[in-house]
Amino acid sequence: MLLEGKTAVITGSSRGIGRAISLGFAREGASIVVNYLKEREKAEAVVKEIEGLGRKACAIQADVSNYEQAEGLLKGAVDRFGQVDILVNNAGLNWDATLGKMTVEMWQKVLDVNLTGVFNCTRAVIGHMQGRGSGKIINISSVVGQIGVIGTANYAAAKAGIFGFTKALAKEQARKGINVNALALGYFETGILLRLTPQVQQNILQQIPMGRFGKEEEVAQAALFLASGASNYITGQIIHVNGGFYM
Ligand SMILES: NC(=O)c1ccc[n+]([C@@H]2O[C@H](COP(=O)([O-])OP(=O)(O)OC[C@H]3O[C@@H](n4cnc5c(N)ncnc54)[C@H](OP(=O)(O)O)[C@@H]3O)[C@@H](O)[C@H]2O)c1
Repeated sequence: MLLEGKTAVITGSSRGIGRAISLGFAREGASIVVNYLKEREKAEAVVKEIEGLGRKACAIQADVSNYEQAEGLLKGAVDRFGQVDILVNNAGLNWDATLGKMTVEMWQKVLDVNLTGVFNCTRAVIGHMQGRGSGKIINISSVVGQIGVIGTANYAAAKAGIFGFTKALAKEQARKGINVNALALGYFETGILLRLTPQVQQNILQQIPMGRFGKEEEVAQAALFLASGASNYITGQIIHVNGGFYM
């Protein structure tokens, strides 16, 4: 198994892509910290599923946009499992509007969760990983941060910010045994996509060369590669997981 003996913290893993990554990592032997904000029952259901696979897991509530709570999440993970080998910064949300209708609150909230949340959780674990001389940090971003999409100035800015953060941190940590990479996701049959209107979904579908939306498990597979020893010589990279939508 690729992640035998490893512990992974996956933010926003009560549902959607984070849940799929958690289950994918657990199947490969990892112990998992399931993080959630509001959906305690769903997070506990993910923990049960992981335990059903014969792995260890616990659910920890934390708002990643709050530094103290992010610190509590990572500290809780170390207290529970003794170590954190992998951090997947997955928690995210969108709150779309064209700029004339975008309030300061909409801008701030989306930046706080999608970008500051990545800083908070990474900052909270980096000393621990440095002390161990190893670690894998995987940041979940979006094609929207690469191409721009009308009505998403806040989300596109946050997701593009993740790319810069990933590259700068990768250089800082390269000699400390810590790999930092990002996944730029296209459109997946889950969460954010399902909240778009059917017409918008159809328009997007027509632009995907593979002719279909991605499956959550396909994000989990890409994340697994970045979490495992198979990617030890890869850092500071943005891997496109998008069915050819953007090249
Ligand atoms: N779905 C797509 O097609 C797509 C495409 C590109 C990129 N992405 C990115 O992939 C990631 C996951 O997307 P998804 O579609 O799986 O989303 P989702 O189904 O809406 O799930 C979001 C997750 O994030 C958690 N969350 C939200 N705000 C949080 C906060 N402040 N602190 C901690 N956790 C928080 C939620 O917790 P609760 O359940 O407790 O509320 C939930 O577990 C996001 O970063 C998203 O931007 C998704």
